[in-house]
Amino acid sequence: MVMKRVLIAMCLFVAACGGEEDDAPVAWEDMSFDQRFAFMEDVVLPEMKETFVAFDAKFEGMTCVTCHGSGAADGTFAMPSPDLPPLPATEEAFAEYVKDPEIERWGTWMFETVMPRMADVLQIAAYDPMTNTGDFSCNGCHTLEGVEQ
Ligand code: HEC
Ligand code: HEC
Repeated sequence: MVMKRVLIAMCLFVAACGGEEDDAPVAWEDMSFDQRFAFMEDVVLPEMKETFVAFDAKFEGMTCVTCHGSGAADGTFAMPSPDLPPLPATEEAFAEYVKDPEIERWGTWMFETVMPRMADVLQIAAYDPMTNTGDFSCNGCHTLEGVEQ
């Protein structure tokens, strides 16, 4: 029920969404590359730009490159992006990393707002460290230090 209402609401944003008889929007995982491209352009970029600008006005000029880096120029849009700051891969290194107050501020916002927002838009369950469940986490966008992607 709730899921259906969410999908219908989302449909309002997606121009290509729903025909007369086929009103079920395609899930992210089932989209073709071209559908994903269009979804990113029509839904993800506007939504996430709003989220990022609310945190820092410097994201007024946010584009595909802000998340995808060189993957936007070479057309692969492969994620995670090697051009975003890599995150520490161990708990100890991460604790060290967020001792810098500015990193801590960014990391907290990423955890509380960016990750869940992005997961919501893609309709993928966000990672929940309490229950160790979910499919979308920081490494949906960031590489992890020393981990082959
Ligand atoms: C806020 C960050 C963000 C922005 C901005 C963004 N993307 Fe994405 N994009 C992602 C993430 C994360 C994924 C991978 C999602 C997944 O499958 O886990 C992705 C995946 C894609 C894919 C699918 C790649 C594949 O291999 O299937 C395409 C195509 C794409 N993006 C295009 C774009 C375009 C075009 C823009 C600009 C209009 C854009 N993206 C803006 C985060 C972003
Ligand atoms: C939807 C994509 C996305 C997800 C998911 C994401 N980030 Fe980010 N993150 C970014 C982008 C884009 C930037 C760089 C913004 C810029 O250009 O300044 C960034 C920057 C950061 C920074 C600032 C680094 C620096 O050196 O300035 C930290 C810290 C960070 N992210 C931590 C995290 C953590 C921790 C998580 C998971 C809880 C996470 N991010 C999830 C996209 C993402």
